[in-house]
Amino acid sequence: MAPIPSIPQKVTRVTIGPRAEGSEIIETQVKVAPGANAPSEIELDATGQWVAWVPNEPSRPLDLSDGREFLEDGWRGAGARLVRRIGKVVDGHPVRAKKHIVQVHLPEEFTPANVRSLVIGLIVGNHSFVTTNKRKPARVRDVHIVLPEGYEFNSFDTADYVAAVTEGKALGKATCLSRDLANAPANVKSPEWLATRAKKAVEDLDGVKVRLRDAGWLKDKGFGGILAVGGGSSRPPMLIELVWDPQKVDQCRRRRTVVLVGKGVTFDTGGISVKPAAGMDTMRTDMTGGASVIAAFRALAEQQVPRKVVALIPTAENMIDGKSYRPGDVVEHYGGLTSEVTNTDAEGRMILADAVSYGAKKYKPAAVVTVATLTGAAKVALGLRTGAVFSDNWGAGVKLARRGAIVGERWWPMPMQDYLEETVTSKIADVRQTPTGPGATTAAMFLRRFTRGVPLIHLDIAGPGRAESTYDEVTPVGTGFGARTLVQWLMH
Ligand code: BES
Ligand code: ZN
Ligand code: ZN
Repeated sequence: MAPIPSIPQKVTRVTIGPRAEGSEIIETQVKVAPGANAPSEIELDATGQWVAWVPNEPSRPLDLSDGREFLEDGWRGAGARLVRRIGKVVDGHPVRAKKHIVQVHLPEEFTPANVRSLVIGLIVGNHSFVTTNKRKPARVRDVHIVLPEGYEFNSFDTADYVAAVTEGKALGKATCLSRDLANAPANVKSPEWLATRAKKAVEDLDGVKVRLRDAGWLKDKGFGGILAVGGGSSRPPMLIELVWDPQKVDQCRRRRTVVLVGKGVTFDTGGISVKPAAGMDTMRTDMTGGASVIAAFRALAEQQVPRKVVALIPTAENMIDGKSYRPGDVVEHYGGLTSEVTNTDAEGRMILADAVSYGAKKYKPAAVVTVATLTGAAKVALGLRTGAVFSDNWGAGVKLARRGAIVGERWWPMPMQDYLEETVTSKIADVRQTPTGPGATTAAMFLRRFTRGVPLIHLDIAGPGRAESTYDEVTPVGTGFGARTLVQWLMH
């Protein structure tokens, strides 16, 4: 099998504090350019410092915001370019490759949000996923951020910046873990592999309970959707169930339970309604929703968020076989609702429906949040850098969108529309799996049929779940999109 890195991989170590001295230090500086155009290359200046430029873009307030929050692409991008460039420097230098501290001097003016974005860039921009037995290039391991002269450490002055670094590290680490899971090739990544990885990622945390439900259990309890999709694979489907409960570590639950449901399709051939060959390889990332839910869950439990958080990841491989489910089948989901299958490539909603219904019944949460690379239609509508948010409650959707955007994940709200309800209804079953009409919207409305009245926030990340090129902190293929949004949204 393919040699893959240990998961989670080590991420850049980042500290903030007074200026450090020593021979291992590589001096670098972040500078803000006077205008919206900044040099995109890291430059070595006359004093021997590497300079990373941040464009000054006061005219780019956040989408959907009141004008007081700003996009931080420039700061994340500067951090990412810096670690990549200095990575090449240390790789060419045997001593430095082993021991170095990249000391980053900040410009005159910056906010805690800028520092958080820089840290996200330093960590996420340094991430790569390489499957080889050959020597891997050295990369930056340690970064130390220095505040300009005049800041007194351990004082009121610096507390916000120290907190920003801590936050940036948690957010960056979550994205890296999600990417590690998403990038793993599908010959390695079976549903069972994903379940084992999820368990390993969280089992050391206090207050966390892990349950891995196998196909036998799913059959017993009536999870018809997960079993139908997983039926065509020699590697059986599973349901990953993770629970963080602050009461288990004697902390209060200050807010109501939330259930996060992530699509865990480890490979999507389309099934009997087979996909075209071109681009099918990227369908190994069709569990990015699940990966982001696992990674966010870990970060939230690690930081002991004061509410119960449940992560459900139905995981299956959508293959072509004599045991595959067929167009025309009727499937009974968990809870008893039936769906009329019309296209086996719409497998995501089949497995999510079971998990949504189960989560709503068992945990009676304040909200169910689904995260999925669900429809090509969402990708067509919003492109590769923006996720789609569906919510019964406009305010809740916009709040999540804004929290996501300030940590570098952009969203746009989309409607669920009453007049489409009839296309989501089947003539022979309760719901029609692939209704006619706007594909991303009707997929969301299909899921809403399974919530038992619990408010739904549905995130379709088919576009931004993968990248085709490198920009800012993003690299091809799996982006880990969604992980930072969930963390930032539930922590604040
Ligand atoms: N995993 C795909 C959606 C997808 C498409 C993700 C492109 C990333 C990039 C999903 O399972 C799917 O195939 N959806 C179908 C649904 C259709 C048959 C109703 C689609 O969008 O074409
Ligand atoms: Zn599909
Ligand atoms: Zn899919």
